[in-house]
Amino acid sequence: MKKLIVNGGKKLKGEIAISGSKNVALKVLVAACLTDEEVTIRNVPLIGDVNTMIDLVGWIGGKVKVKGNTITVRVEKIRNTIIPLEIGAKTRASSMFLAPLLCRAKRAKIPNPGGCRIGARPIDRHIEGLRKMGASIVYDSKDGFFHAKTSDLHACTYKFEKNTHTGTETMILASVRAKGKTVIENAALEPEIDDLISFLNSMGGKIRRVGKTIIIEGVEKLHGTSYSIMFDRNETMTFAIASALTGGGLYLSNIDLSKLTSFLDIYRKAGGKWEEENDFIRFYMSSRLLPTDVVTKPHPGFMTDWQGPWALFMTQAEGDSTIHESVYENRFGYVSELRKMGANIDYFDPKIKNADEFYNFNFNPKDNSYHHAIRVHGRTRLHNAVLQISDLRAGATILLAALIAKGQSVLYGVEQLERGYENMEGRLKRVGADIRVKDEN
Ligand code: EPZ
Repeated sequence: MKKLIVNGGKKLKGEIAISGSKNVALKVLVAACLTDEEVTIRNVPLIGDVNTMIDLVGWIGGKVKVKGNTITVRVEKIRNTIIPLEIGAKTRASSMFLAPLLCRAKRAKIPNPGGCRIGARPIDRHIEGLRKMGASIVYDSKDGFFHAKTSDLHACTYKFEKNTHTGTETMILASVRAKGKTVIENAALEPEIDDLISFLNSMGGKIRRVGKTIIIEGVEKLHGTSYSIMFDRNETMTFAIASALTGGGLYLSNIDLSKLTSFLDIYRKAGGKWEEENDFIRFYMSSRLLPTDVVTKPHPGFMTDWQGPWALFMTQAEGDSTIHESVYENRFGYVSELRKMGANIDYFDPKIKNADEFYNFNFNPKDNSYHHAIRVHGRTRLHNAVLQISDLRAGATILLAALIAKGQSVLYGVEQLERGYENMEGRLKRVGADIRVKDEN
């Protein structure tokens, strides 16, 4: 078990190159399994979840070569249609192999997906969509697997009842080679989905988006490609907050601000500033931090993955801020850890009229085991503590807190952080953070 030791309070200064997007990398690795030709993917972050997906591509029969941040994949033939539990359960994206396995081998067996402990995270919406395309899928609670088969996936018009990011992507992957025209309605709008669409079109796919509708003209075959994926919006926001809280000295590169408007709008409201210098963007504070009220929403709303680092940011604002989480049931795993460091945060549950519509997860009025909002009373000076990382984005939040807290903090559960952030220790050390990884055993 590894732990991170951080001596907080240092001013950070220097350049940070933002990595490629985790939530694109995982999906283009699945997309590469839709052709028997060679696919090259550039700007791939070397992180735990990518390694898991590389293992799964190999497991189903693909050959994978990793050279720096470039991955070459070739799945000449599907040799295995069962996704193993111990690998599949590590990341939610493993369920998306349903698409290439059904497309090329007409059958698949996948474990109920895992991912972060931030809510039930079922894949009922994915399954419904695939059934509409002619897949028969049965969940066997005895073995915990979904058993899927099809004579041939066919085109259809399918409207998602509720927004789903990876559900939309699974439908795109399943229909890109399905005979006929598939129309996906109420499709999710995340920019990462559009990057997956461009990737598939570079392989010969015929996919276009009109707002929340995506139209796919099925093609017989997809050919190989060489493609560089977009930047990681979560990592960008994490380092932007890190910069603003540690003296404004970080120069971030490989960012497209046009994909960050919902963050920039609220950051500006809080008094945050940024400037562009050549290819670098520097986030800083010139006056005191102002409290804000945020409701997380699917894109183009304020992204749920940003709410942890934002809560930390608001501990340094003068006054009360609120964050209302509408995408997942249980995304406040970091609150207990910030409280250990002196943060003053309360839970509350806003009264919502049409809760089932308002919440993106499957709302159950009888389930009051989770709180859906927090109030952050700022400003509180944070002090060191021994901390436990519960999930990937909570890890980023707790790491930021340790960087600004007085004294030495110890963070356990570093593996969670490494699932989604490449070499955080090395990159932070290079800009002046006093941080090191220690192996417990
Ligand atoms: C994707 O998760 C991302 N993960 C998440 O990032 C991100 O927070 C989320 O989209 C929103 O943008 C990947 O791309 C691998 P959803 P996903 O389907 O697919 C419920 C990170 O840290 N739901 O839009 O889970 C679901 O439980 C991760 O990188 C169902 O109930 O997002 C959630 O509460 C965290 N049934 C809500 O809907 C379904 O079939 C939104 O899920 C599908 C989803």
